[in-house]
Amino acid sequence: MLAAMSTRRVFGTMHWLTLGAALLAPAAACESASDDGGSSTGGSAFATGGSTHPAGQSGSATGGQIATGGAPITQGGVSAAGGSATGGAPAPTGGQTPTGGAVSNAGAPSGGSATGGAPVQGGSAGAASGGGGQANNGGGGGGGQANNGGGGAGGSPLMCPPTAKTLKEAGECSGRLIGTAIATSHLNEAAYVETLREHNYATAENEMKWDSLQPNRGGFNYTNADRFVDFAVQNGMKPKGHTLVWHLQLPSWVSSINDPTELRSVMTNHIKTVIGHYKDRIKEWDVVNEAFENPNNWPDENTPTYRNSVFYRVLGKSFVDDAFKAAREADPEAKLIYNDFRSEGLQPKSDAVYEMVKSMVERGIPIDAVGLQTHLGTPNSKPPVADVIANMQRIADLGLEVLISEMDSHCCDGESPESQATRFHEIVTACLNQPACKAITFWGTTDKYSWLNTWDELDCGGRKPSGLLWDDNYQKKPVYTGVMNALLGK
Ligand code: XIL
Repeated sequence: MLAAMSTRRVFGTMHWLTLGAALLAPAAACESASDDGGSSTGGSAFATGGSTHPAGQSGSATGGQIATGGAPITQGGVSAAGGSATGGAPAPTGGQTPTGGAVSNAGAPSGGSATGGAPVQGGSAGAASGGGGQANNGGGGGGGQANNGGGGAGGSPLMCPPTAKTLKEAGECSGRLIGTAIATSHLNEAAYVETLREHNYATAENEMKWDSLQPNRGGFNYTNADRFVDFAVQNGMKPKGHTLVWHLQLPSWVSSINDPTELRSVMTNHIKTVIGHYKDRIKEWDVVNEAFENPNNWPDENTPTYRNSVFYRVLGKSFVDDAFKAAREADPEAKLIYNDFRSEGLQPKSDAVYEMVKSMVERGIPIDAVGLQTHLGTPNSKPPVADVIANMQRIADLGLEVLISEMDSHCCDGESPESQATRFHEIVTACLNQPACKAITFWGTTDKYSWLNTWDELDCGGRKPSGLLWDDNYQKKPVYTGVMNALLGK
């Protein structure tokens, strides 16, 4: 029943999107779901200059959430750039450097109505008031603000008008960045690049992992990573660094080190060198990725343990603290993120992640955000959205930001396209309803290149995982519509 209601909410108010195709899609596994997509995304000028990144997203600088939202971006007629400086000085430390000519919407005059009951988005306005001088968008005014259209429209503007044609434009209604993983090997494919243009935030799928950046000791190679960063910056996408310390895609010269002093030095050198190299262009980093073990390696189902990586084995759990401290030394202004999977809802592993970051905050270890990878479906879970909401809230209560950092949700279990769309809709909405949740990143655009197709832990029973927003032929799927509707407040 609940599912049926949610589904109605996803599809119920579509006017310009592809309701027809969505409903006609077979209720089989979402591998077969293909939505003509109607409107191609085309047309939107890709971001060089002018795309309005919500500056100051990273916040956390001095406490208080950054107010996002409020900035009328693509909405009819409301001037975004807002001009007046009132909206606040640049965030003292945490502030992001907007890329792509972004302009902070600081000072969007009225900030919109505080009450309007915007379901979710924006509203936060967060705490900003006290914090003084945040570069955020809109926020200023203190108190809530309407997510879109802000300005004046007095009350109505809790949903974006259907002028937002791309995910990033819809995300801007609430000041959320919409990201994707980019694989530079596909950048010569026009249709692939076209899907990227729906986003204003980017993570390198592989190009910034240790084995790419420092395959041999001391031999840093930035060729592919630079290609990623250049593409992102030139196209108005804020690049995120992924990932500095991880047990996978780690060269054997690192994993064979047994001496703690040597390994600590190698680890901190890698962190400082890479962050230093990109200091002008990358202001947020996944510092440590997946420090906790998979459940099948726990002593029992309720006892998560640290992963038996070389870092933990040789350095103990203090490697996490040391990594974050080195990252902060390398760039005092960067947003520092702990990123993990199967930690989205309320379950032993998310409890372990929560306890770890809580302890870091209490001990003054520099951390700004938690990335919830959100790779959903066995062997991970598809957690109830209420649990995701509660988990985000407890992280936010620590003063940390939350990022949906690698979302996909496969249909190997036979989930229907509509159900998949509902799942994404619910999670995106949960992010919009949580002021501390600043961005939503999908792990790729087209199913054709999804890592799920080759993930060795996924048994899809001969089906295609189909976990992303575009199908193999670059057609938008119902799940695209579900995300879009959520971003539009529908
Ligand atoms: C994956 C990439 O998508 C694949 O291309 C690669 O072969 C393996 O890594 N969690 C992460 C990502 O943090 O870096 C992983 O990316 C997916 C799971």
